[in-house]
Amino acid sequence: MQLFFQFLGLLFTIVCQDPNDAVFSQSINVVLNGQLKHYFVGNVVVHASSRQEKNEYFPDDSTTFDDDGTPEFIEYLEPYDYDQFIDLNDLRVSRIYPDVNKNQVLPYDIQKGNMSNYMVKKYLGDGTFAFVQSAIRLSDGLPVVLKQIKKEYTWWAKMEAKVLNTLNQENNPNIVQMVDAFFNESSPVLVFKELQNCTTFDYRIYNYYHDLTSSDIKQLYYKLFQALATSHSKGIMHLDIKPANIIINDDQIQLIDWGVSDFYFPMKEYRTRVGTRHYRAPEQLIHYKYYNYAVDVWALGSIFATAVFKKYPFFNGRNNDDQLLKVVKVLGSEDFFKFCYKYNVRVPNDLYQKLRSYEKIPLEKFINDENKELATPQAIDLLNKIFVYDHAFRITAKDILQHEYFKDL
Ligand SMILES: Nc1ncnc2c1ncn2[C@@H]1O[C@H](COP(=O)(O)OP(=O)(O)OP(=O)(O)O)[C@@H](O)[C@H]1O
Ligand SMILES: [Mg+2]
Repeated sequence: MQLFFQFLGLLFTIVCQDPNDAVFSQSINVVLNGQLKHYFVGNVVVHASSRQEKNEYFPDDSTTFDDDGTPEFIEYLEPYDYDQFIDLNDLRVSRIYPDVNKNQVLPYDIQKGNMSNYMVKKYLGDGTFAFVQSAIRLSDGLPVVLKQIKKEYTWWAKMEAKVLNTLNQENNPNIVQMVDAFFNESSPVLVFKELQNCTTFDYRIYNYYHDLTSSDIKQLYYKLFQALATSHSKGIMHLDIKPANIIINDDQIQLIDWGVSDFYFPMKEYRTRVGTRHYRAPEQLIHYKYYNYAVDVWALGSIFATAVFKKYPFFNGRNNDDQLLKVVKVLGSEDFFKFCYKYNVRVPNDLYQKLRSYEKIPLEKFINDENKELATPQAIDLLNKIFVYDHAFRITAKDILQHEYFKDL
């Protein structure tokens, strides 16, 4: 594995044309069961342009990775002026909740603290950004999850804490609840109420995934779209909706990991290489930076399609452009190019050639003996309203809750 990343790092160094680009070697130390482990993560190229004019969204030593673990180029974003005059009718502005954050982003500072309030029970996992353990809060015996974020990703921890502090005021049972956040020495620790005996909603892990009935699917996705509707109404985009960021037990389902989420501001540019490829919306795949809440609807819709058609993942691309190709093969070329034209996005010629000749396929084509009980006309109608290229016309999470499909819940 290490050799693979070293090879990738070398490849990136060679591809890296501009002598001003910087290549950072990333390695991470983690204490696992009392033992120090050293992980070599790979080399990350930071383009000279993004270093010269740093955006607030990229703190000094920020690093991004694609979802398959390969290092990604950091995208340059124009700095945002929070005091500018905005025409809310501009094409680039969200048609829902365009300026709920104008005076509303609640300040939230992570204070110093320590682990002595908690007794760790077991280690749950560690990823690039955090080390996660289940624990008990000693003051009242509350089962919690401690997400200790590596100090180099403090900026993300602060955002996650700020977002959850805002969201948790809504008391939505389908959104993970943060009960505390503190700095343990210099590492931020976020504390969540534990959903006990849960698994992630991942097809490969969630045992019952294949046996979900139509009514199970309806109930689960209603809750998930409800979580999104709440989040969007508070001006927050999750930006990393995927099965691994949904946890479920016998009686609850929750959206977790608000680590890359963000507050929406009209005309603000957002990073398009965010989240996980299979769930990225078309506007992200074409690198349109003025996207909005609708990307979450696409992502959750793609997971919903997985359940309805028993096809995992529903759009199965191998890389960004291939992901776009998989979408265009279903939704068709004609509407795709209309969408690009409307938002003034230029498609490079080689990609244009790959994408130009597909007729739209009706979703009914995906019905087979395995899924015919689940892929009802209402489910397909809902998916047709979600899988719309133009995010301005994509159904919203709030309207999804009113859709015919959920009427008999
Ligand atoms: N409230 C919770 N209750 C139970 N388990 C949780 C809870 N929050 C997180 N977990 C577990 O911890 C794992 C990691 O949490 P989270 O996704 O927030 O962190 P992460 O750093 O993004 O990790 P990853 O890189 O694996 O996505 C989850 O997949 C889940 O198994
Ligand atoms: Mg996660």
